[in-house]
Amino acid sequence: LKLGVLISGRGSNLQALIDACAAPDFPAEIALVLSNKADAFGLERSAKAGIATATVDHRDYPGDKPAFEATMDASLRKAGVQLVCLAGFMRLLSPWFVGQWRDALINIHPSLLPSFKGLDTHERALAAGVRFHGCTVHYVRPEMDEGPIIAQAAVPVLPGDDAHSLADRVLESEHKLYPHAVRLIAEGRARVDGDLVRIHGPVP
Ligand code: GRF
Repeated sequence: LKLGVLISGRGSNLQALIDACAAPDFPAEIALVLSNKADAFGLERSAKAGIATATVDHRDYPGDKPAFEATMDASLRKAGVQLVCLAGFMRLLSPWFVGQWRDALINIHPSLLPSFKGLDTHERALAAGVRFHGCTVHYVRPEMDEGPIIAQAAVPVLPGDDAHSLADRVLESEHKLYPHAVRLIAEGRARVDGDLVRIHGPVP
């Protein structure tokens, strides 16, 4: 399965996908990494791994989100991308773009959805006093952080945690979860059925 990975910054989840794809038995490869920021560290990670990259800077399309997204869409198509993975991509995508990639567009979010949509999830989890927190990979729908859930991983909230220690623990779990979710999709085992994803076959 050919992946397009959309990033805006650090790219540690991108790195987890790069590392997973390097294994000979992994059923996906990264065809293109697309960033909306030219200085995203994830672009360096991609170059180091010999992966094609492109920058489509939203600031080059002031007030014209359709043109920004059409450019991204065209470069993903040109690269033969079959599944788009959002990995710390910090622009909200329009219903048009989401519709173009329906059931072929996934996101990783640092909370156990449907709790804590949006930003500052770790601070909000601490403020809510939850004992478990985690991350979710889901198919993207036009509403932010909504859509059929593919996979989740929970981590404990420990006494003494602050947002940083909790974020680190969640991030470690993200790096395992994202490749796992991509594998399920690539093997045809995570299929959208209405508002849910049905998993076919055993899940380790
Ligand atoms: C991750 O926590 C991801 O869940 C969220 O943004 C962060 C991106 O980190 N959507 P990185 O760029 O993958 O290191």
